[in-house]
Amino acid sequence: MVLMADRWLRSVWIVALCTASGCASAGGNDVTTDALDDTTAAPPETSSTSNGDGTGSDPEMSTSSSGGEDDSTGAASTGSTSDASSSSETDASDTLASTDESSSDATTSAPPEPDDGSSSGVGSTGAEEDSEGGTTEVHPCDRPRTLKEAGACVGFRKGGSGVRIGAAVAHHWLVADSAYRELLVREFDSLTAENEMKWGPLQPERGSWYFDTADALVDFAEEQDMMIRGHTLVWYSQKPNWVDDIQNVEEFRDVMRDHVETTLDHYRGRVHRWDVVNEAMADGIDWNGTYLRDWRATQLLGADYIAEAFQMAHDADPDVELYYNDYNNDMAGAKADQVYALVADLVERGIPIDGVGFQLHVNATPTQIAQGGMWASLYPNYYNSGAFADNIDRYAALGLKVNITEFDVRVRSPFHENEAPPDAPRSSEPITAAEARLQAKVYYEYVSTCVEKYPTCDAITFWGVADPYSWYATDPVLPFDGNYLPKPAYDAIMAALQGVPYVAPQ
Ligand code: G3I
Repeated sequence: MVLMADRWLRSVWIVALCTASGCASAGGNDVTTDALDDTTAAPPETSSTSNGDGTGSDPEMSTSSSGGEDDSTGAASTGSTSDASSSSETDASDTLASTDESSSDATTSAPPEPDDGSSSGVGSTGAEEDSEGGTTEVHPCDRPRTLKEAGACVGFRKGGSGVRIGAAVAHHWLVADSAYRELLVREFDSLTAENEMKWGPLQPERGSWYFDTADALVDFAEEQDMMIRGHTLVWYSQKPNWVDDIQNVEEFRDVMRDHVETTLDHYRGRVHRWDVVNEAMADGIDWNGTYLRDWRATQLLGADYIAEAFQMAHDADPDVELYYNDYNNDMAGAKADQVYALVADLVERGIPIDGVGFQLHVNATPTQIAQGGMWASLYPNYYNSGAFADNIDRYAALGLKVNITEFDVRVRSPFHENEAPPDAPRSSEPITAAEARLQAKVYYEYVSTCVEKYPTCDAITFWGVADPYSWYATDPVLPFDGNYLPKPAYDAIMAALQGVPYVAPQ
């Protein structure tokens, strides 16, 4: 009973904090582009994408050519998402109104600080008519209306500030598409820049910094009281071309330190978590008889560039959470074991690291593997949420957190179709009912596992806002379709966040 009261108070505190820090009122769900002005000029494109994926989102792409527009599964068919599938503007202003109302009742004492410095999104209580014509108070966590509310309610049930629900955001689309913005603001309370904070975009020419578009994303996220995940400081891909020309060990070390320090200094107190090193591990033997990826950093600094980068990041900003981020580290197999060994070694040596990012670009079907192509070697594994749970446990045993950082679930594409250039038209083929059911099941399993392992796992970021903006050319991988409507995956994720069973529509 005392515990229940404590949790109830916590949610009131959260609402109070949300209002005090302007999470709803500072633009709140009144989605403006104020924070996005004057930043549309693109920096010179000099960054290397040496992984050759060729699948980046296409800034010129029209939403009308995107997939999933006529969702044959009937979005929101399970009923639980009917609110979410109606006008996003209406829902957005509802959330704003209810947050404001509850704040007037909230006590004026100082609320407890949420874990990450931003506030989370449990909405207000509401009154519901009961069977005898009276009214009953309904707690928002009895019926969360959005992903971010459901994520925050994990905290209400289990303590802490809940599971942050994030999306990778492209500055271009945030400026250009109001429906994109509205969906983002309504459903998500964490933001990752899909490309804008990478080394190449931030420092296209040596010593010449371009923070404008990344700053605009940070301004926007702050206006919406979102947590911000910084992605990513040191990565072999999307780094500037000039980095490859460095021949000298000390020079590389200085350049890396300068990049890490300048970036962390710029975003001090604003970006809450950083992916310090991304995808350092290859898919097999690569550098010097190890799985470490062969690039300028390993060639000059050896394996220790990773530890050095973490130490530099910690020295630059001891208050920010530091993550190692990779793909297939959630699986059973050599790659996951290599990543684990790398991270365990960092911990053993006392290198400052707070957590591990599991990208989770998941294959729902084994057929994609059989089809081969470059993606088969990059993402060879068929989904296995049991292995995901085991991996979370072994990182928890090291005292680390786990974030899902780039979540999406493929149901269809042969890998080679995903090698389409960024300006190739997206598939307009709607997701089939069978594909949608499978996708929902996979999302449910992974999100349930994260919730089960909470608070070790306390953030889930989807790699895109809705299908048309995914990095995949031809596969409707995200929970929202081309009309920004929730797919069955959305209902499954909502159920998983609430810890209740999900029954797929037949
Ligand atoms: O900015 C240029 C633009 O000027 C040019 O006109 C356009 C046409 O080619 O390309 C634009 O750059 C593209 C960039 O995305 C922004 O759209 C790059 O070509 C393209 O390669 C780049 O792709 C990104 C990819 O990382 C690069 O490796 C994807 O959008 C992004 O989703 C993807 O994200 C990665 C994570 O960072 C790490 N984990 C894997 C994940 C998927 O590959």
